[in-house]
Amino acid sequence: MKIAVIGTGYVGLTTGVGLAEIGHKVVCIDREESKINKLKNGQLPFFEQNLEELCGKNSKNGRIAFDSDMKEAVGNADLIIIAVGTPPHPITKEADMKYIHAAATELADFLQGYTVVATKSTVPVGTGDDIETLIKKKNPKADFDVVSLPEFLREGFAVHDFFHPDRIIVGANSERAFNVIKNLYSYFADKTKILHVQRRSAETIKYAANAFLAMKIHYVNELADFCEKTDVDIFEVAQGIGADTRIGDKFLQPGPGYGGSCFPKDTLAMAYMARQNNVEMGLINTVIQGNNKRKKDMAERILLSVKGIENPKIAVWGLAFKAGTDDCRESPAIDILAQLLENKANICVYDPKAMEKAKILLGNKVSFAENMYTAVQGADVLVILTEWQEFKETDLEKVAGAMRTKTILDFRNCLDKEKVKAGGFAYRGIGRK
Ligand code: UGA
Repeated sequence: MKIAVIGTGYVGLTTGVGLAEIGHKVVCIDREESKINKLKNGQLPFFEQNLEELCGKNSKNGRIAFDSDMKEAVGNADLIIIAVGTPPHPITKEADMKYIHAAATELADFLQGYTVVATKSTVPVGTGDDIETLIKKKNPKADFDVVSLPEFLREGFAVHDFFHPDRIIVGANSERAFNVIKNLYSYFADKTKILHVQRRSAETIKYAANAFLAMKIHYVNELADFCEKTDVDIFEVAQGIGADTRIGDKFLQPGPGYGGSCFPKDTLAMAYMARQNNVEMGLINTVIQGNNKRKKDMAERILLSVKGIENPKIAVWGLAFKAGTDDCRESPAIDILAQLLENKANICVYDPKAMEKAKILLGNKVSFAENMYTAVQGADVLVILTEWQEFKETDLEKVAGAMRTKTILDFRNCLDKEKVKAGGFAYRGIGRK
């Protein structure tokens, strides 16, 4: 099948590369010419495990190409996938549709023959209808259908998730369009459930799923607070409730709050859509507020740990919003650091992948260490904010030798509590006494 993918962010590029790998012919389009030139040279605009290799492989065998102009690729395509950004509006927090609308308007003129236009970006309910109207208005003769194909990839595991989806949701209002998508995903036919729903349902499923997962994390974070006060171990509790298949054992890791480019944005957008439709969704608002408060609480814990120390030095391991990615968007680590900086703290940070992206956000307000051991040199507290494997395998003796005060705040529960204590540290994890 010939496919044009508009937008080369996480979703667009991973989808394009994945579809090329399963045998389709893909052209990825992005307005930013510099990005396209880099992609042509095999350079990806972000880090994602295994994506660069797979992209290189499919570029070489000619199944994936890159272009900054959509005319030819759209004209040749059986399927066009829109995967541009939908950032939150700075004031209302509704998802900003300007890139989606621009893409739909631009592609309309180039459509040839029956074409399916699919949205992979996370878009508010009714966006498919708007895209349809925009295309019809610009090109009344176009023969096309608009479908919603929500994406459930996780950053850091995007390639894995592409090849092992829990389900594929196809929001198509016509059988003709659904059959095109069934053909697109024929590779998954005997591996994965392909669910055909109406387009508006598909758009809702994406927000509903992310909001539910955010809620699960917030719940386990609140439970962790409860466990800390009652001398209970959150791991045992999470294991116990997660064993109930109605609850499930995933997304029950307590931490410093959820972050990233999706949960914070999508929960806000869901709350906005509820307000617009006069629907009371108190739960989602509580989750949003609770998650913001969580990051403040974490900053307070850090400041409390160095109270009374003159010119305390805080070492931070982990800046990315989770392990496996260099993405710092809405990272709890960045928000927590911002709060510490308001208190004029002296901070040294290290992250195995996210230093460059964090530098853009933090500038020269903190010092950036070369490795995790130089970060703790002379420090009074070590705070772990991202669950990187190398932090789990740390040489505690080396850390102890470098620190001025041996205190560790492990907000991702990376370390073995008993080993840390045996190393002479004062230790505080999450959800354990
Ligand atoms: C999330 C969803 O998991 C994907 O299914 C979805 O496709 C994607 O958003 C999206 O909308 O595009 P992602 O943002 O990559 O994926 O990250 P997650 O792995 O979901 O983690 C989100 C945040 O929750 C991170 O800050 C993570 O550390 C935190 N988290 C996650 C916890 O604190 N505890 C957990 O048990 C799980």
